[in-house]
Amino acid sequence: MNLQLDQRIALITGASHGLGYATALQLSREGALVAICSREQAHISAAADAIHSETRRPVLGIAADVRNPADIDRLVERVVEEYGGLDILVTNSGGPPSTSFEETTDEMWQEAVDLLLMSAIRLVRAALPHLRQSDVPCVLTVTSVAVKQPISNLILSNSIRLAVIGMTKTLALELGGEGIRFNSILPGWTVTERVHDLMEARARRNDTTIEEEIGKQSAASPLGRMATPQEFGNTATFLCSPQASYLNGLMLSVDGGAYKGTF
Ligand SMILES: NC(=O)c1ccc[n+]([C@@H]2O[C@H](COP(=O)([O-])OP(=O)(O)OC[C@H]3O[C@@H](n4cnc5c(N)ncnc54)[C@H](OP(=O)(O)O)[C@@H]3O)[C@@H](O)[C@H]2O)c1
Repeated sequence: MNLQLDQRIALITGASHGLGYATALQLSREGALVAICSREQAHISAAADAIHSETRRPVLGIAADVRNPADIDRLVERVVEEYGGLDILVTNSGGPPSTSFEETTDEMWQEAVDLLLMSAIRLVRAALPHLRQSDVPCVLTVTSVAVKQPISNLILSNSIRLAVIGMTKTLALELGGEGIRFNSILPGWTVTERVHDLMEARARRNDTTIEEEIGKQSAASPLGRMATPQEFGNTATFLCSPQASYLNGLMLSVDGGAYKGTF
């Protein structure tokens, strides 16, 4: 299938590595003009170079912290200035720390709201005028299966991502009439630096090793393993493509069947 992504303009935040990077790489392989951001210019330039060296497509690497409203406005403006518009927005960032309820301070709650929720709100707000000019506009929010099945010691993620889901679904209803599609991917366990850090935290709590914790978590999946970032990136790329034109308001788990509910 030709995904019809050639020359489409895509902004993926939180993309120097992990799920964001894998999505940007696959979009670029499909011919999209890609812009990526993360907090450090050196990291994001290295990621942009790595994608460009494989795909030979234009890739813009911009330093921006999605917790900072001014960075978000500057980021979107720069993409539009460079590429002349915006068709696809993928909102992503790092995740919040692993804590129990009683360890979590007000400050930590506020930081996680800024990182996960306000970033998505502000990115959509900044992107909307440009998405309205596109003939194939879409937004993909990256959340977590934790919204369906809370994960132990991840109360910040389990709680705040539900608000991102609420926003995504509401926008799918409010702006579907303008032809702008809004979907979310709920990733399950996928082998990235984030998961390495979470497994390290579990190993400390349980007095085990990271390898043992990865083994236990992998065994909990019907497929007996975690996902690869590429598997996430393939799904995200399809969802953002014009070929997914009737997929709107979809909250899609990419978890290998680990979530046990029927719906
Ligand atoms: N991997 C999984 O199994 C899994 C499962 C469910 C949900 N998720 C969630 O999906 C998201 C991506 O996961 P991941 O595993 O790819 O995470 P990751 O390995 O931690 O990568 C996060 C990316 O976001 C960037 N980033 C972090 N904070 C940022 C900020 N404030 N502004 C801009 N960029 C920022 C990081 O680059 P810099 O550090 O260079 O800024 C990096 O490129 C996270 O929110 C994670 O919690 C992941």
